[in-house]
Amino acid sequence: MKKVLSLISLAVLLTACGGEEKKQTQTAKPEVTPAATAPVKTAPPDKAALAEEAKTAVQALAGSLKGELEAAMKAGGPVEAIKVCNTKAPEIAKTVSADKGLQINRISLKSRNQNNVPNEWQTKVLNDFEAKKAAGEDPAGIAYAEIVGNEFRFMKAIPTGAVCLNCHGTEISPAVTAKLGELYPNDKATGFKEGDLRGAFVVVKALVQ
Ligand code: HEC
Repeated sequence: MKKVLSLISLAVLLTACGGEEKKQTQTAKPEVTPAATAPVKTAPPDKAALAEEAKTAVQALAGSLKGELEAAMKAGGPVEAIKVCNTKAPEIAKTVSADKGLQINRISLKSRNQNNVPNEWQTKVLNDFEAKKAAGEDPAGIAYAEIVGNEFRFMKAIPTGAVCLNCHGTEISPAVTAKLGELYPNDKATGFKEGDLRGAFVVVKALVQ
């Protein structure tokens, strides 16, 4: 009899535990369901405002790079200035990214640094930029913005100016060529003419959804 009783209490205990578990899953469910069936409506991202934000970041990066490049060219000529582009350009891009809460960098269809090779989406946009330029648009004004998934993406064309030809043109001094060859064995960023598209700034901002 004792044995039977203890068996019964064991059974009660077991069902009690089972019941508990069931209760837990039942109470857990309603917490999930309302969120899944009735998502809180968030305002759609403001593309125009995001584009302005991206443009500000582009201006910050372009301005810093221009300043650094000009100062280095004046101080030590193009060979010395290569060091600025080599070390400072990625650093400045990182600083601007952190300051603005987004990711900004430079890319090109003919890149010098392999970190600046465009991805598929960026390649498509760069090809569109080339087509626009070929159709007569001023490269300085070519830009594109799109929301893809929960990312805001912005690209702005970078035209080639006269000063750029020192390191990206067709007649590069032997000293510059040697230094570039040393730092970038896979350099594709030469042979540009003034007014060509050198590449683009890329801004990516994750959207909270
Ligand atoms: C003193 C040499 C020098 C001059 C002048 C120069 N660049 Fe560069 N450029 C470089 C180097 C070196 C890199 C690679 C930077 C890196 O490692 O991130 C580079 C990279 C770039 C990139 C990133 C894409 C890539 O090819 O890797 C762009 C865009 C670019 N330059 C545009 C310009 C423009 C526009 C000018 C003129 C306003 C210019 N550069 C002038 C040396 C130069």
